[in-house]
Amino acid sequence: MNVIALNGSARGKKGITWKLLDSFLKGLSEGGATVKDIQLKELNISYCRACLTCMHKTPGQCAQRDDMDQLYPFLRESDLFVMGTPVYTDSMSAQMKTVMDRCICGMDPFLRIDPANRVRHPFNWTMPSKFFLVSTSGFPEVDSFLPLIMTFRAQAANFGCESIGEICIPGSIALQMAPQLLEPRLDLIQRAGKMLAVHEKIEPTFLEEINKPIVTREQYLEISAKYEAWARKSRGQTT
Ligand SMILES: Cc1cc2nc3c(=O)[nH]c(=O)nc-3n(C[C@H](O)[C@H](O)[C@H](O)COP(=O)(O)O)c2cc1C
Repeated sequence: MNVIALNGSARGKKGITWKLLDSFLKGLSEGGATVKDIQLKELNISYCRACLTCMHKTPGQCAQRDDMDQLYPFLRESDLFVMGTPVYTDSMSAQMKTVMDRCICGMDPFLRIDPANRVRHPFNWTMPSKFFLVSTSGFPEVDSFLPLIMTFRAQAANFGCESIGEICIPGSIALQMAPQLLEPRLDLIQRAGKMLAVHEKIEPTFLEEINKPIVTREQYLEISAKYEAWARKSRGQTT
């Protein structure tokens, strides 16, 4: 199994998104997958200009020449796409959304009925047939992920792909302040990656276990009080 994993966190390898993604990818590699990971913060990728040159003049090829050129071969040739993104304003990061927009060059302009009986574009080239989401949110509620998960699943379907699971760990503000709390969960995430590489699926009950909030609301508020004290100090405030 060839895997392309993108980290859309603006903090790259310093963020919680990477900690989760890195563990998942380690598991996939352990299970025999060939994994390529890319930090989007290191690339220069422009917005889609909606010129539709890709659809009308150069089928399958975007008119813009930038660092998307490094990603297209992996997106065209991998079996699994792992989207690593934090929740930013209730969705994926702008870095990740820009990549997804730039992938519409794989679509033809024609309109056809898809297998789910919806009117969609057919494809000139296809994204990896399986999509998997790895995410974290600052707030502690699991509901923080709902808009992102809906978008992620819709994107997978619109690219003709199957969304096969999500790892979504809420409460990153507390996890940054108390990183030791995250460690046991990272082991489970690594096991999930290995399970996916070996069995081509992760048991839903195992994913449910992984996606349980690590801290309770009360613990979260307690830890975030320390964060507030730190933030006030950093702003030069004494109270
Ligand atoms: C621009 C921006 C928007 C954010 N919006 C949300 C949000 O809507 N909901 C939420 O729970 N956390 C939000 N957060 C918090 C991030 O999800 C959280 O800090 C996460 O850990 C960032 O990922 P990282 O650790 O990989 O940098 C936001 C953070 C930023 C920078």
